[in-house]
Amino acid sequence: MTLLLDEIAAATARLAEAGVDSPRADAEMIAAHVHGVGRGELQLVPDRDFDPRFWNEVARREAREPLQHITGLAYFRYLELQVGPGVFVPRPETEVMTGWAIDELTDMDVAEPVAADLGTGSAAIALAIAQEVPRARVHAVEADPLARQWAERNIARWADSAPHTRGRVTLDAGDFAGALPSLGGAVDLVISNPPYIPVGATVPPEVAEYDPAGALWGGEDGLDAVRIIEEAARRLLRPGGLVAVEHGAPQGAAVYWIFAEEQGWRDTRNHKDLAGRDRFVTARLGGSGPEVVAG
Ligand SMILES: C[S@@+](CC[C@H](N)C(=O)[O-])C[C@H]1O[C@@H](n2cnc3c(N)ncnc32)[C@H](O)[C@@H]1O
Repeated sequence: MTLLLDEIAAATARLAEAGVDSPRADAEMIAAHVHGVGRGELQLVPDRDFDPRFWNEVARREAREPLQHITGLAYFRYLELQVGPGVFVPRPETEVMTGWAIDELTDMDVAEPVAADLGTGSAAIALAIAQEVPRARVHAVEADPLARQWAERNIARWADSAPHTRGRVTLDAGDFAGALPSLGGAVDLVISNPPYIPVGATVPPEVAEYDPAGALWGGEDGLDAVRIIEEAARRLLRPGGLVAVEHGAPQGAAVYWIFAEEQGWRDTRNHKDLAGRDRFVTARLGGSGPEVVAG
């Protein structure tokens, strides 16, 4: 047992005591970050190289600061994104919805499909689409100027490391309502992970204190922004275009009906996340137009 592994064991106990969900994984990731090694290389760090700053970072996590704010990084599908104060930390649940959109765009019989990511935050969804569907163009819309700075930084980083994404993701300042006015009727797929927590709901300290309020709260039933996204998608999509909207686990039926009750939508469907909970709704704008090739 090396000194670092002993310290990780002690930190794991402290994080568990503080109510952290995955104390060992978090202690290991903090240790890897502080020592500049991969998580699988921790046992190789010699005792003389133990960096006591490890304990400063453990104390931050113990105070329930999100791990991603401590390391400055979040992982989303095949992306490494910079995150910190002022931007929503992307979540694994959203990877499933993004994967659905990527599959649909890949199969779409359109030369250069156009997608719109409404409420892009760190640009996680927009960049994942650009990375995995190289012929797609993505318009990332964000109202919050602080969040937009993180999106800009991540889009620029990816343009440097994956040149095929350069110029394919455009960041637009603006509100969901009225977003992308020049693209009315021209978008192939609208995707959004909007704020959807009902006001007054209890959330963990990592969320309440560190995710921006504008990314979380969706009015009394949590669905204010979903209703605006439904209208925006109806305005932006071409006939036959697709929408995907994330929601909280108990909101599946309500979000289904926000789409199913409106004129114009067909194929409205609920989808589950990896834990088997209702997580997003998809629908197609009625009318003809390029259809998805069966796959
Ligand atoms: C839950 S976060 C999702 C961020 C990112 N798409 C993700 O999945 O990690 C919602 C985002 O929508 C933005 N937002 C909230 N209301 C908005 C509005 N009316 N117009 C534009 N953006 C909005 C928030 O600032 C926040 O960045």
